[in-house]
Amino acid sequence: MARQLSLSSSFKLNSGYEIPLLGFGVYQTPPSDTSAAVQEAIKAGYRHIDSAAFYQNEAACADGMLKSGIPREEVFFTTKVPPNSISYEAAKREIGKSLREVSQLKYIDLVLLHAPYGGREGRLGGWRALVEAVEAGTVRSIGVSNYGVHHLEELENYIKDTDAKQGKGKGGTLSVNQIELHPWLQRKEIIDWCQKRGVLVEAWAPLAQANRWNDPSLRDIVKRTGKTEAQILLRWSLQKGFSPLPKSVTPSRIVENTKVFDFVLSDSEMASLETDEYDYHGWDPTTSGLDN
Ligand SMILES: NC(=O)c1ccc[n+]([C@@H]2O[C@H](COP(=O)([O-])OP(=O)(O)OC[C@H]3O[C@@H](n4cnc5c(N)ncnc54)[C@H](OP(=O)(O)O)[C@@H]3O)[C@@H](O)[C@H]2O)c1
Repeated sequence: MARQLSLSSSFKLNSGYEIPLLGFGVYQTPPSDTSAAVQEAIKAGYRHIDSAAFYQNEAACADGMLKSGIPREEVFFTTKVPPNSISYEAAKREIGKSLREVSQLKYIDLVLLHAPYGGREGRLGGWRALVEAVEAGTVRSIGVSNYGVHHLEELENYIKDTDAKQGKGKGGTLSVNQIELHPWLQRKEIIDWCQKRGVLVEAWAPLAQANRWNDPSLRDIVKRTGKTEAQILLRWSLQKGFSPLPKSVTPSRIVENTKVFDFVLSDSEMASLETDEYDYHGWDPTTSGLDN
């Protein structure tokens, strides 16, 4: 039986901060529509917004968060250092830029390196810039996105070495790895690595970008439960222990995607959604080499 979950369920990050499990994604949401979508989401009960410098809608997210009327500290805001800026200098500059974009928020809850690019020096330099932002008090928690196990191990070794040489905590605390995840892309090794260390796995494209609605196992569960495809995929993600980040600009869907706490997928339903497929959308930096 899955543990009891609700719209206000949260996860305690390795940083010590709580993050609401159900997030709201804004990739490809035009800046002009983002404030309204974020306000709609907060009205529906989301308390976690997932943006990125690359999406060009950080300021509009902050605007929506403030206009929602919900106190700032009750809504968790994530942004990401762009994939082409993964080095110490560039990441420092980008974090400063993001902080200016959302200056009304006073601080950023979570900053991720968007991709494991830049080679070893770039990745670890980018990480160092994140650690400094936490030390400066402008960012609360830090993490990575699209990291495979080889990238995670490189980072873990760096953190251990730095802690040993400079004192505990100096290497920084890894709180999150955000990767694409849904039944057709399950990435068990990465998940295992993260969950053993208390690193929260966030699921991007948790709806597989609405591309797999005709899957026979999914269709069966739709018929049996009366729930929609989207609701079943989000419930699957939550029962796996992930933090799913569904995106929508459609008010009815924004609400629909929150109605995932009044049913449970049985063990056999979860098993029927197991696949060996590797169906990714757009990009897959998790497999890129350490030299990239
Ligand atoms: N770290 C990364 O590299 C990375 C990459 C991609 C995404 N992300 C994050 O993850 C979030 C989600 O990923 P995603 O946007 O790629 O894909 P997604 O959430 O799996 O799918 C979004 C698509 O599904 C549609 N949709 C949403 N709810 C629906 C429902 N109930 N019924 C039918 N269709 C529905 C949306 O349409 P409408 O909007 O038209 O309603 C949109 O076309 C992003 O917004 C972003 O925050 C991160």
